[in-house]
Amino acid sequence: MAKSGSLRLGVLGSGRGSNFAAIAEAASRGDVAAEVAAVISDVENAGILQHANQLGIPGRFIDPGKYRTKLDEGAEQAYITALQSAQVDLVVLAGFMRILKGDFLRSFEGRVINIHPSLLPSFPGLKAWKQALDYGVKHTGATVHFVDQGIDSGAIIAQETVPVLDEDTPETLLERIHGAEHRIYPASIAAIARGEVILKGRRTVRRVS
Ligand code: GAR
Repeated sequence: MAKSGSLRLGVLGSGRGSNFAAIAEAASRGDVAAEVAAVISDVENAGILQHANQLGIPGRFIDPGKYRTKLDEGAEQAYITALQSAQVDLVVLAGFMRILKGDFLRSFEGRVINIHPSLLPSFPGLKAWKQALDYGVKHTGATVHFVDQGIDSGAIIAQETVPVLDEDTPETLLERIHGAEHRIYPASIAAIARGEVILKGRRTVRRVS
């Protein structure tokens, strides 16, 4: 994506919203040329909606429909319409625990990004920090990537490594990974807003301004 200027972000999340908060704070400090135009959750009363409320950012629950891991057809359309009416330039998945496919990705082609709590392509899917701990790797981390039709498989925008310590529990490791996420997600959005992130095949490269 080579778009410059201030981006309107649509943030989708299912959980506590710490990545959303890091992004919103970086934007309000002026570190990211973006504003959060809409926050949508598939979980009623999710922490992310409460955070949005506290920051005066429009947040709403949209019923995901009858499936457990994806949006049903009506819900997918409702999510698309809500994001389009908020005139969103970039869709930011921040702990959104449903797979987005088909019409949704076509509606925001090349404009959907995600954060994942591992160094992809290692440990895609659920509880990636626990997968890393169980596997016994000595380093893991966080990845920001474009979303494609696969699971956690799109072109990588940024990664940060964290060590796995002998005494780590899933909770302590996840907390360290969250620290990395809160740095690389706002920084990646800032780079996209500056038009520096160029997609080349399945790689991204940085255009030096
Ligand atoms: C983050 O750790 C993010 O990487 C993960 O959910 C968490 C959301 O935390 N996302 C995934 O696992 C997606 N596959 P947050 O609600 O505090 O931002």
